[in-house]
Amino acid sequence: MRAAAISLNDAEAASPSPLVVDHVSKTYEAAGQLVPVIGDLSLTLAAGEIVAIVGPSGCGKTTLLNVLCGLIRPDRGRILWHGRETAGQPAGVGYMLQKDLLFAWRTAIGNVLLGLEIRGVPAGEAEDRARVLLDQLGLHGFADHYPSTLSGGMRQRVALARTLVNDPDVLLLDEPFAALDFQTKLLIESDTVKLVRDGRRSVLLITHDIEEAVSVADRVIVLSQRPTRIKAAYDIALESDRTDMIAARESAGFSDYVRRIWGDLEVARR
Ligand SMILES: Nc1ncnc2c1ncn2[C@@H]1O[C@H](COP(=O)(O)OP(=O)(O)OP(=O)(O)O)[C@@H](O)[C@H]1O
Ligand SMILES: [Mg+2]
Repeated sequence: MRAAAISLNDAEAASPSPLVVDHVSKTYEAAGQLVPVIGDLSLTLAAGEIVAIVGPSGCGKTTLLNVLCGLIRPDRGRILWHGRETAGQPAGVGYMLQKDLLFAWRTAIGNVLLGLEIRGVPAGEAEDRARVLLDQLGLHGFADHYPSTLSGGMRQRVALARTLVNDPDVLLLDEPFAALDFQTKLLIESDTVKLVRDGRRSVLLITHDIEEAVSVADRVIVLSQRPTRIKAAYDIALESDRTDMIAARESAGFSDYVRRIWGDLEVARR
């Protein structure tokens, strides 16, 4: 287990982390009541690192991602993207919600192209990038299909392609694979991790699935009940190929991490 504290030291100033969350807190006001959601939360995300966040339902995980990408203002604390505080939505960050939220009237490739169209990327170049990604994510031949004619797993892949096509260097993923059956989940996890590791992207992955967290991530952070704080953090050292989700699950130490994190969550729920 490692300490969760951070320090903004000289090394940080020279080569800033993609993301630093520095003593952030957030209280909502709803139905005349104050609901403290994020207690006092600090974390850093290193370049190329995949960090999974697990925590009890309603503890504030989605709120945290919304704060990070500028949709909600924190009450206190700072968020530094590449060493700088940013007003509003940070550049180079892809945010994938739990629901795929594809536009029904756009084809798969039409959905993927949306962000590039808004940014004015030339049509030919944009379409090439979108088709390559759809192929890499196992959707060869389905680019011109409408979402209603795709399976849940295929729609999830389209949503992932839509996030990745903008070439983000940091991905915020909010339970992206939660609705999938086990087999599809393993396949999409593997495809995602390959693309992320090939591109040296950094990822914050929210998940309820402890096995997913341990097999996918370099580090797992366990959050407490509201107002949420970091309860525990584990560096995941598995000797398997870290893009092979089956091998990760079969490797020595895997079940020990799962058991310890499960124990932390049990305590956090009470
Ligand atoms: N816009 C809002 N206004 C007031 N309260 C809110 C708002 N959004 C969320 N909350 C409250 O904040 C708390 C945390 O919600 P959040 O969606 O961040 O939890 P979560 O950890 O993502 O939960 P889950 O695991 O179920 O997705 C909940 O108590 C919720 O009722
Ligand atoms: Mg949530």
